[in-house]
Amino acid sequence: MATERTFSILKPDATKRNLTGAVNALIEKAGLRIVGQRRIQMTKAQAETFYEIHKERPFFGELVDFMTSGPVVVQVLEGDNAVAKYREIMGATNPAQAAEGTIRKTFSESVGENTVHGSDSAENAAMEIAQFFKDGDIVG
Ligand code: RTP
Ligand code: MG
Repeated sequence: MATERTFSILKPDATKRNLTGAVNALIEKAGLRIVGQRRIQMTKAQAETFYEIHKERPFFGELVDFMTSGPVVVQVLEGDNAVAKYREIMGATNPAQAAEGTIRKTFSESVGENTVHGSDSAENAAMEIAQFFKDGDIVG
């Protein structure tokens, strides 16, 4: 299996409820290594750029408002098949449909406030990592 990197965000509902350590514990238990991590307040411009792919969707405004409503933790995760593995342990976008034991099933209260983001492809992971991290800030 190939070692790869994926981009993760612990969303404002996670920081607000003091769950960043609990989510990180599930990430590490799955064998993913947190090789970059920073707590930031996302600006509206950063959130709009990050979620540009969803800009025509009806929930775009709500999504940008939510992602800027409090601090987030941006992360680079590394491991075998990190992109797919993280999507698996995050669970479905809607926590009501997420599998038992996943991050969203365990912690999330709604489809909008669903605790974590994870890249959906290696290409997007590289772009998303580049939006928030300099090479020197990732130590594998
Ligand atoms: P993410 O990008 O955050 O990892 O989540 P995802 O791939 O599972 O879901 P995606 O379709 O990319 O949607 C991005 C985020 O938009 C919010 N959303 N709200 N109100 C709604 O119906 C709705 N649908 C999506 C969620 O926060 C979702 O994670
Ligand atoms: Mg997505």
